[in-house]
Amino acid sequence: MARWFNNISIRWKLAFSFLLVIFITLLVTLLVQRAIIQPRMDDFLRNYSILRRGPEIANVIADSIPNAQNWTELRGLLEQIARLFKVKVFLTDANGDLRVQSLLPENIPINESQIDEALIGGTAIGTIFLDQRQRIEVVTSPVYVAGKLVGAVQIAQEALPGGLLVGLSLTSSLLLGGLAAAVVALILVVFLSRGISAPLLKMKQIALKLSRGDFTARLPAVSHDEIGKLASTLNYMAANLEQMEIMRRDLIANVSHELRTPLASIDGYTEAILDGVIPGDQIEETLQLILGEARRLAKTVSHVLQLSRLESGQIRMEPRSFSLQEEFASLLRQFQLGFEQKGLVLASEVPPEPIFLLGDPDRIHEVMANLVANALAYSPSNTTVTLFARRESKSQIRLGVQDQGPGIPTESLHRVFERFYQVDVSHSRQTEGVGLGLAIARQIVEGHGSKLEVASEVGKGSCFSFLLPEERGAELGDPN
Ligand SMILES: Nc1ncnc2c1ncn2[C@@H]1O[C@H](COP(=O)(O)OP(=O)(O)OP(=O)(O)O)[C@@H](O)[C@H]1O
Ligand SMILES: [Mg+2]
Repeated sequence: MARWFNNISIRWKLAFSFLLVIFITLLVTLLVQRAIIQPRMDDFLRNYSILRRGPEIANVIADSIPNAQNWTELRGLLEQIARLFKVKVFLTDANGDLRVQSLLPENIPINESQIDEALIGGTAIGTIFLDQRQRIEVVTSPVYVAGKLVGAVQIAQEALPGGLLVGLSLTSSLLLGGLAAAVVALILVVFLSRGISAPLLKMKQIALKLSRGDFTARLPAVSHDEIGKLASTLNYMAANLEQMEIMRRDLIANVSHELRTPLASIDGYTEAILDGVIPGDQIEETLQLILGEARRLAKTVSHVLQLSRLESGQIRMEPRSFSLQEEFASLLRQFQLGFEQKGLVLASEVPPEPIFLLGDPDRIHEVMANLVANALAYSPSNTTVTLFARRESKSQIRLGVQDQGPGIPTESLHRVFERFYQVDVSHSRQTEGVGLGLAIARQIVEGHGSKLEVASEVGKGSCFSFLLPEERGAELGDPN
């Protein structure tokens, strides 16, 4: 049953559910009607039906007969009864001759045969038709005074006009109502299911398109219900897929471009040496160039791999507490020689108290080393590069590198974090840069829930920095 229900379309599910509800409602109503309403109604009909009233009225009249001088004196009583019960009353004598009758309604005639029947055999019941429409219920009862038959009383009452439903029993009218409800339900199902299944079918088409690699497909916003939410989730997914697809294409295009250039150089230089085009005294220099390009290639490949692992979340940050002062000392050791060789000063500016930061120490070192390497690469000699750490709030430290280099033009500022982006390509060839350092640094900083920021002014210098949380526990554990 459940399996069968799962396999049918929404339209049929709705139809089935509606009909089931109607059926159950009907069943309960019928049961209630059978158990409670019908017995009461029968009771009511029994008590108040004309059939029962006939003999009762005969008794009332019989009680009045001994006091009456003649038949006409009973007229008043007949009129009262007629008005009270809305019936026509006839009174005959023991021979069946009409003696007195109530006035209204005028058009109902006496039923002679029933009078005869009542005078012989007791109360008689019947229905007569005046014409096609008018149905009259008639009851005739004998009237006894002191055990002696003195006449018969006939009461006649117009039956309810026979409308469409009046003739039906309660059960049949309930069933008819149920049928009408079912028809209405089925019409509703058609409209409802169209409203539900149409967007679902559309989603199916979009999902198919997505699976075939068409990520531009989107659904129109329809409703705010579950289906609408599903649609917007699907749109969100499509947008993400599209973004990823663009990134993937970009990456492949970038990488192949970046690889092609050094490969072409290697190819060209090597061929030149083999062809003997390069004079003997320049061969070593050319081999150095080839080595440089090969290293550049290797560096590009390893950086691209690292970046793509970072972007896809394969590299996880492992935050722990580490000493800010130790990190700065390690950077100074690492870069001191390089700075001296280029005639640059590497300074550091840290708060006097020991500070412990929360982050992945190796990755943070990588970020800082990247920033320092850039400052070293792009700054002219006789300038100063400053490593700094400043308290920005109670629990946050801003780490960064400030240089007095050429600065970055405003229009390039937002692009320096893009992979393979380089402001000055000719310069970067000399510095062996491939344009991935800042992209990697940004990924790592974002992996720490922070943001790598840059401020730069052409001719004055650049400043790259980011915030890291301070490890409070370590500070408390510090004896001072
Ligand atoms: N301190 C700086 N001063 C001036 N320009 C800079 C500075 N840092 C970065 N840039 C510019 O931003 C570009 C991108 O830097 P990024 O570190 O991403 O790549 P790269 O240094 O060229 O190569 P690598 O992948 O080897 O780091 C650089 O090519 C340079 O033009
Ligand atoms: Mg760099």
